[in-house]
Amino acid sequence: MTLLEARGLIREYGHVQALAGADFDVDAGEVVALIGDNGAGKSTVVKLLSGSEAPDAGEIYFEGRRVRFASPSDARALGIETVFQDLALAPHLDPVRNMYLGREVMRPGLLGLLGFMDNKAMREGSRRAFDNLGATVRNLSGPIGSMSGGQRQGVAVARAAAWASKVIFLDEPTAALGVVQTRNVLDLIRRVRDNGIGVVFISHSMPHVLEVSDRVHVLRRGRRVASYNAADTSMEELVGAMTGALDGNGAGNGEANGEAGR
Ligand SMILES: Nc1ncnc2c1ncn2[C@@H]1O[C@H](COP(=O)(O)OP(=O)(O)O)[C@@H](O)[C@H]1O
Ligand SMILES: [Mg+2]
Repeated sequence: MTLLEARGLIREYGHVQALAGADFDVDAGEVVALIGDNGAGKSTVVKLLSGSEAPDAGEIYFEGRRVRFASPSDARALGIETVFQDLALAPHLDPVRNMYLGREVMRPGLLGLLGFMDNKAMREGSRRAFDNLGATVRNLSGPIGSMSGGQRQGVAVARAAAWASKVIFLDEPTAALGVVQTRNVLDLIRRVRDNGIGVVFISHSMPHVLEVSDRVHVLRRGRRVASYNAADTSMEELVGAMTGALDGNGAGNGEANGEAGR
């Protein structure tokens, strides 16, 4: 049974059709990369599947059951955590407060790093989560807003990984990171996957996509136009599917699964 699936997602912003009938699926214990040009609709898929916005049409299924998310806490209650492209941290709060933001009723994720106790326990839980990621968050008590983009991204990724028990969405999680921090995030993605979580990874780096993912979904103009096993595809094929260059002369196993050109 598919862990999280969407069929025919439509989302319009004014006269812009961000999603024009997009399908999506991720299984437990796999990394799915979601790729596509700027404006293809990747972040919109993430927003709809994490409950931060509602689709105009289309269906979402979690463990085979139809779900409707009224807010991100509905998705979180199912074990779905998200690192949004704009991070969505609270800039005036310190990293520890950010780690526990809105968590009053939640249970910890599979990595089991966090719990709910006193301030000391929260600090220790946060420190473990950052160390686990190799994130260089030295000052746990300064406001997040005063930290570098890379540090903020580290906090956002550590927070999501620590609480996710089913699915984690990472929307361009390495965009602000240096080489070493990026390695840490790619390692974390594999570890989270090996814990049985479904990981959805959005990145413009084709080498990173091919390195870390099991499957690759290609979005173009608001639709999933192809889907590949990472082991059976290439950078050229992925770029071709993203840009439409492969249209009309076969889009690899994308066409074989009936997604191409729809
Ligand atoms: N809040 C919004 N208001 C207006 N247009 C939006 C909004 N969010 C996204 N869009 C538009 O929807 C399309 C898809 O955006 P997005 O999902 O962010 O693409 P991607 O993440 O693949 O770059 C783009 O044309 C974008 O400008
Ligand atoms: Mg985006």
